[in-house]
Amino acid sequence: MSPSEKPWGGRFTEATKPTVETFTASIPFDWRLYRHDIAGSIAHCKALAEAKLITAAERDQIVKGLKAIEADIAAGMFVFSIAHEDIHMNVERALTERIGAVAGKLHTGRSRNDQVALDMRLYVREELDAIGDLLRGVQKALAEAAARHIDVILPGYTHLQRAQPVLLAHHLLAYYEMLQRDVERLRDARNRVNRMPLGSGALAGTNYPINRELIAEYLDFPIVTKNSLDSVSDRDFVIEALSAFALIMMHLSRFAEELVLWSTTEFGFIELPDGFCTGSSMMPQKKNPDVPELIRGKTGRVYGSLVALLTTVKALPLAYNKDLQEDKEPLFDAVDTVKACLSITAEMIPGIRVKADAMAAAASDSFLLATEIADDLVLKGLPFREAHEVVGKLVRHCLESKKPLTGLSPNEYRRFSPLLDPEAVAKLSAKSAIARKSQIGGTAREAVQQRLKEIEKGSKRT
Ligand code: ARG
Repeated sequence: MSPSEKPWGGRFTEATKPTVETFTASIPFDWRLYRHDIAGSIAHCKALAEAKLITAAERDQIVKGLKAIEADIAAGMFVFSIAHEDIHMNVERALTERIGAVAGKLHTGRSRNDQVALDMRLYVREELDAIGDLLRGVQKALAEAAARHIDVILPGYTHLQRAQPVLLAHHLLAYYEMLQRDVERLRDARNRVNRMPLGSGALAGTNYPINRELIAEYLDFPIVTKNSLDSVSDRDFVIEALSAFALIMMHLSRFAEELVLWSTTEFGFIELPDGFCTGSSMMPQKKNPDVPELIRGKTGRVYGSLVALLTTVKALPLAYNKDLQEDKEPLFDAVDTVKACLSITAEMIPGIRVKADAMAAAASDSFLLATEIADDLVLKGLPFREAHEVVGKLVRHCLESKKPLTGLSPNEYRRFSPLLDPEAVAKLSAKSAIARKSQIGGTAREAVQQRLKEIEKGSKRT
């Protein structure tokens, strides 16, 4: 392609080398911004007409041309070209082919630098909303599973050692709360994405009386950005989105890890639906939890995208630098990955078969009641540290004599403390231990049900 075919052709005597075109082009990936690019161009074009920089007829011609190009791209009938580098120039070239020289007026008062900043904001805003909806889908699946299994008890763990019995519903709702914070984080990030950068020009602003606020209104932005240098070089809104995605993946990965653990023969707490597992090509007995494993695995990939962009931006002088083109692939990949993981998680949850008996058997381990015995001693006036010491000795004795914590004779208990009430100890169970934790946030059935009720009512922040 001769230099004159490029928008900057006047300055050049030699054509860009094809290898350089290939190296510098972003069209292989930024074509995904076409809807946003065209929406931005239409808004800009209308503002140009408002400012009397183009006529109403020219505006209509340009808008019509842009809409036709959008339809072509959507229908897969548009041929993108590497020689035109990116989505912005591909669209402009197509516009010129369609409507002739008047297309050249569209770029008045605009640079690709503020154009791409706008496209990225429109794209991120849309995806934050879509991902928020998918998060809600997983939350819904978790809450429904919690309600379905409201009677199921399992051991709660610390250090992956059995600690105290909890309701499975409580355990599932822990993930609900994590995802709730993710929803809030996306909403919060959206506020900072939602600022309109067009009118910043290449870096210094624009000479033309283009009404930035009007463009913002056309594109549903509540405010415009306040510094042109910042507007064209800021990508922290992308990084914020990526960090929110990284946290979503961290939460999904923790859940996935539990599904992997729980579906082992060693735990045997759940069985994943066949449709979400694969077998082994060699070992006929195998049923592998591929879906949760891959979610866990893909988490690293999303973290990678976050770190990639943090690193890209960290040493860039103001204002725009071509390095910033590297924001797109990590972002697109992270968006695709997070969306796929959220969708498949929501799809998988309802099919998880809960082995309530195995969970209950594990939770009936009498040692999980040790804290209950200590708490009862406290209620009788013993300082907690002393109560802990008494029950610690009791636990050691039971371990050594291979007896359950609740299975000693009344005299044996009294030897450890005269305050120990053998009848009360005998009555302890996982169920009673759970029922006592009825404060807000506790695992008692009434507290969990209260939370479920709030969730159902939509008062999710209380
Ligand atoms: N493809 C470029 C990007 O993604 C668009 C902006 C290019 N600006 C420029 N002055 N070369 O960042």
